[in-house]
Amino acid sequence: MDRLLITGGRQLSGSVEISGAKNAALPLMASTILCKGNTVLRNIPDLKDIKTMAEVLANMGAGIDFNNGVLAVNATSLVNKEAPYELVKTMRASVLTLGPMVARFGRAKVSLPGGCAIGARPINLHLMGLEKMGAKITLSQGYVVAKAKRLKGARIFCDISTVTGTENLMMAAALAKGTTVIENAAREPEVEDLANALNLMGAKVTGVGSSFIEIEGVEELQPIDYQVIPDRIETGTFISIAGITASNILIKNCRTEHITAIVEKLRETGITITEEKDGLRVVGPPRGKLQPADVKTLPFPGFPTDMQAQFIALTSVATGTSIVKETIFENRYMHVAELRRMGANIEIEDNIATVRGVERLFGAPVMATDLRASASLVVAALAAEGETLIDRIYHLDRGYEKIEDKISKLGGDIRRVGA
Ligand code: EPZ
Repeated sequence: MDRLLITGGRQLSGSVEISGAKNAALPLMASTILCKGNTVLRNIPDLKDIKTMAEVLANMGAGIDFNNGVLAVNATSLVNKEAPYELVKTMRASVLTLGPMVARFGRAKVSLPGGCAIGARPINLHLMGLEKMGAKITLSQGYVVAKAKRLKGARIFCDISTVTGTENLMMAAALAKGTTVIENAAREPEVEDLANALNLMGAKVTGVGSSFIEIEGVEELQPIDYQVIPDRIETGTFISIAGITASNILIKNCRTEHITAIVEKLRETGITITEEKDGLRVVGPPRGKLQPADVKTLPFPGFPTDMQAQFIALTSVATGTSIVKETIFENRYMHVAELRRMGANIEIEDNIATVRGVERLFGAPVMATDLRASASLVVAALAAEGETLIDRIYHLDRGYEKIEDKISKLGGDIRRVGA
């Protein structure tokens, strides 16, 4: 099992290119199910989750060709309308195949995602919406089976704004008969990216980026050639890395309109972030000069939960106390125990983390527990004194493309070592 060996303390410099967004690529890959013909998606990151979604589609009978960031999916004839447990259990985003499959074929069988380290993550809102659109949903042997002669437009209110729930229902509604309204829809840039792609396919989605999305169903959608947006969470992760190592780096290919909450909050800690013509110039304050800041995770446009772990790592060496409130997931502090092993002083009570800044962190053997927790360990290790060995970095490989190459190129002392 691969591990990452990091020796902290180096100041970084140079530039880093942000990859395509995993959480935009996954729903876009699922949307290829809606069209006959060959859909081309560009700027697709080479990640484990992407390979898994490609496997799910290939298992259905789609033709897949993926190289150099360009993914072609031919979903003309999908002989198998099923997303099997052995694939779904490794990547819950497979549930995104449910809506498009019911919409195009009138039936789908997708394994329930099962538990997840960061929380229960039910899909009740996905299923509620499909039922409102006329799908008959049954659960059997851990699978969701959905059937509908043809989905019909409906008015759907999501009492919690759900990213993949909104995406699933938007894709289902695109081919339904009549108009669907999704109220309290998620507004994340990845949802907007999917809506823009659906409209390019010939769908009629309005209200994109607002919490009130209207989809007028059409008879057929056409395959497209589409470029995926850059990853706003990877961008925030690299801003945190520059901040904690007192570095001056240029971050390329990022979309500043997607990271307002991240930029504003990280500026509060003393990191200077300025737009230059070919990217974001990020300069961390001198060591020992990071300021504490309080943050609450919220749906977009609020501060994203996917940046909470990296923020805690950053402020663990601030000159004061930061209060972090995680409002999206019920168990998303597993990185804290590992950061404590590095000398961080963090207390958790319910969903609130009190981060008392310490002068420095110390390298230690630590273990990744989930995708963003592993990112926070990388952030911490790059500033810690001495060596940190991060185990189970398959979590990291799910969401960060070539992270050790990117950090090495910036001058970081990081390398992948085998078991
Ligand atoms: C997406 O997950 C992202 N994944 C997550 O990123 C991200 O953390 C999350 O949105 C929140 O921004 C992808 O886009 C593939 P939700 P998703 O449905 O859609 C509850 C990462 O690190 N809920 O918006 O699964 C749910 O339990 C991953 O890249 C229901 O109760 O998240 C949670 O508390 C981790 N019922 C809240 O809503 C439902 O039917 C938000 O979840 C659906 C969700």
